[in-house]
Amino acid sequence: MDNLHNNPTEKGESTQLNRRKFLLAGAGAGVAAASLLPHVSVQEGQASTEGTGVANTHQTTDLGKRRLGALGVSSIGIGVQNMHRKYDTTVPYRPEMVSILREAFDRGITFFDSAEAYGPFENERILGEAIKPFRDKVRITSKFGWNIDPDTGERGPGLNSRPERIKRAVEGSLKRLQTDHIDLLYQHRVDPQVPIEDVAGAVKDLMAEGKVLHWGLSEPGMQTIRRAHAVLPLTAIQNEYSMATRDPEKDVIPLCEELGIGFVPWWPLDCQLLTGWHDANTRFATGDFRAITPRFSPENLAHNIKLVDLIKNWAARKQAAPAQIALAWLMAQKPWIVPIPGTTVMAHMQENIGSTEVRFTSAEITELNAAVRAIDVRGQRLPDRVLAYSGVEAPLRR
Ligand SMILES: NC(=O)c1ccc[n+]([C@@H]2O[C@H](COP(=O)([O-])OP(=O)(O)OC[C@H]3O[C@@H](n4cnc5c(N)ncnc54)[C@H](OP(=O)(O)O)[C@@H]3O)[C@@H](O)[C@H]2O)c1
Repeated sequence: MDNLHNNPTEKGESTQLNRRKFLLAGAGAGVAAASLLPHVSVQEGQASTEGTGVANTHQTTDLGKRRLGALGVSSIGIGVQNMHRKYDTTVPYRPEMVSILREAFDRGITFFDSAEAYGPFENERILGEAIKPFRDKVRITSKFGWNIDPDTGERGPGLNSRPERIKRAVEGSLKRLQTDHIDLLYQHRVDPQVPIEDVAGAVKDLMAEGKVLHWGLSEPGMQTIRRAHAVLPLTAIQNEYSMATRDPEKDVIPLCEELGIGFVPWWPLDCQLLTGWHDANTRFATGDFRAITPRFSPENLAHNIKLVDLIKNWAARKQAAPAQIALAWLMAQKPWIVPIPGTTVMAHMQENIGSTEVRFTSAEITELNAAVRAIDVRGQRLPDRVLAYSGVEAPLRR
């Protein structure tokens, strides 16, 4: 069990750049001074994303490796969800999104997170286009499970993880991702109508055909994790987890440790709160998901800024950006945790990668953990109607 959670390259990879040189390198690259760049293990200047990015021009830097179950990925990944539509409801410029994803690969990211439901469909198309030149060098994820018409993309009510629907969903995902396999396929939410053993059976069939290599669950119930893992070993659980949302520490993360399953935190920046971009006076427009999320209500935000202040203090202490502290904190919790921050801004992507260079001593992480735990973050992490889909147990087979 333990060897699944071993992280052989992580300890040996700390080719720490002199911090000052490092900051200067970031500034020279036109990035904000706090944006720490990862060390480069190919010749400087070799990697380029200019133009259309032909296959053999893409060379990746060494961002270290982590293991999610038996799947090796870069220490940090990237979430693609907002690349078709940002939380503030604006639509990003697509060629720029492709450039960001290619630059992310050039800088060492090999783990890209998408889903059928993002768009729906559009997000997978963007990811498929971006990674085409280096598909075989990266690990991509997708997710099935929301009730989305596979032909039209029209959203129906609730969920649908019936085996036939899973197989159709994956066929669509493969086309849009322009690939013949998905490295890690998640069930997006547990379907209360479908036994998890039936879901595993469909995924197993897809694995036998080589269309899916690993599988995982997002926001599942604890017994469902055990049952799923017993019939078809899980590679990762993807749940919301960050300095602001530490719920998985109670049960999911200990269970992952027990079973040798990797953990992928979504909303690792708590939807931008932890980056220091919000203050007590920030308000969200109609249509922005944060406008209906209790955590971000005016009264709760005013209180929760305490956590942001703590992060900013640590950012000053570690000569890093707040987002880097939030991501480095996640990676410091367990060597088999791989955050997938999302961004639509090149400089933010570069800054987020810089989090892999932030190191805490064991005394520092003990101090930081204690300080984080002392702050009671107020307001539910999601609106009721969305939270209702989390922690659901799949029915037993009759
Ligand atoms: N399994 C699930 O149910 C589920 C649910 C939600 C998300 N996810 C996955 O998790 C991924 C990450 O979640 P997320 O993107 O929603 O939330 P997130 O990573 O917590 O935060 C993203 C937000 O932070 C901003 N940001 C990112 N880096 C920044 C930086 N360095 N400085 C300042 N702002 C920064 C982004 O805005 P800019 O674009 O302006 O940088 C965006 O508004 C998604 O892409 C998706 O793949 C999964």
